Amino acid sequence: MHPQTQAIRLQRKRTNELEHSTPLFLTSSFVYESAENMAAAFTDDSLEVNIYSRFSNPTVDEFVGKVCAMEGAEDGVATGTGMAAIFSTFMTFLGQGDHIVSASAVFGSTHTIFTKYMPKWGISYSYFDMSKPETVEAMIQSNTKMLYVETPSNPGLDIIDLAFLGEICRKHGSLFVVDNCFATPAVQRPIEFGADLVIHSATKFMDGQGRVLGGVVVGREDLIHELYLMVRNTGPSMSPFNAWVLTKSLETLYLRMDKHAENALAVAKALESHPQLSFVKYPYLPSHPHYDIARKQMSNGGGILTFELKGGLDAGRSFLNALKMISMTNNLGDSRTIASHPASTTHSKLSSAEQLAVGITPGLVRVSVGLEYYQDIIDDIVQALG
Ligand SMILES: Cc1ncc(COP(=O)(O)O)c(C=O)c1O
Repeated sequence: MHPQTQAIRLQRKRTNELEHSTPLFLTSSFVYESAENMAAAFTDDSLEVNIYSRFSNPTVDEFVGKVCAMEGAEDGVATGTGMAAIFSTFMTFLGQGDHIVSASAVFGSTHTIFTKYMPKWGISYSYFDMSKPETVEAMIQSNTKMLYVETPSNPGLDIIDLAFLGEICRKHGSLFVVDNCFATPAVQRPIEFGADLVIHSATKFMDGQGRVLGGVVVGREDLIHELYLMVRNTGPSMSPFNAWVLTKSLETLYLRMDKHAENALAVAKALESHPQLSFVKYPYLPSHPHYDIARKQMSNGGGILTFELKGGLDAGRSFLNALKMISMTNNLGDSRTIASHPASTTHSKLSSAEQLAVGITPGLVRVSVGLEYYQDIIDDIVQALG
């Protein structure tokens, strides 16, 4: 079955009630038919049996199974948030004395893990510039365990050639980990380009309506088993309720991503020549510096675009204040269009130099284009620019 069908049709075995829609297993623990079965469940870590919802839960498993089908992955683990997925992955595969090579353009909290916490635990990092992929290989050291990248990046929308990075990782034996949150598996499947693990903040497009937090990591079975043990023992597991919301949401992910991308391209084209903007950046606009790579590895341009207001920081704030319909919030991937101003919000803790290094200029506005009628989105942006 095509992953789009699997996102709709994969469902755990019906209960005796013969429900059509998937049930929610809101339970902390599970019972055993005998003391022997209970003992066996604790003896063998890999036994496919539910013990406790920190370890596994049928609703969570259904959500993970769908993401695996969509990403073409062998197995997966769900977590309470996207950051829990990222942090658990780092903690499972990196230890004292190890080194990680990462794009500098990563989500703000991921940057905080690299700069504030990893040095404390004796893990070092090197940052590469997404627009200089030729510098990556030289950064690999004998203790480099992992190469980490987000493409498209948040919020700079930089794109890097996944197949090229996959090749470097294969040559040097390091794990290749991709945060695929901006594209989603409906648009980009990093495992096909050599990724060992793919991470998502399910909070974004996977939910698609801004209701719940969630994270998920999928990839090679042997790696996922290690990660599963880490999550099961340290506790950043996904709530079954959130998994139920998310597994229902995945049924429409492909349709939604097509519409997000169609709207985003229409908005990007309408704004491209606006006199108050110094640039509009969208992966599927030919003016995007990595347009050719986007066309190669993404099936559409996704739902996020950015633009730079000529008036800088003050213009960014005035623009947000002038919006009438578009929401001013820092989430993304919602059915409702959202605008945010990274320099004064999500990335305000970075120094100006750090902001610039990851493509955040003072007047940069990030728009997560929703599913409203596209002309209403354009009209609101244009009136706010005025
Ligand atoms: C690319 C990316 N990765 C990870 C995260 C973190 O996800 P969460 O907020 O679910 O912890 C975000 C959140 O905005 C994100 O945009």
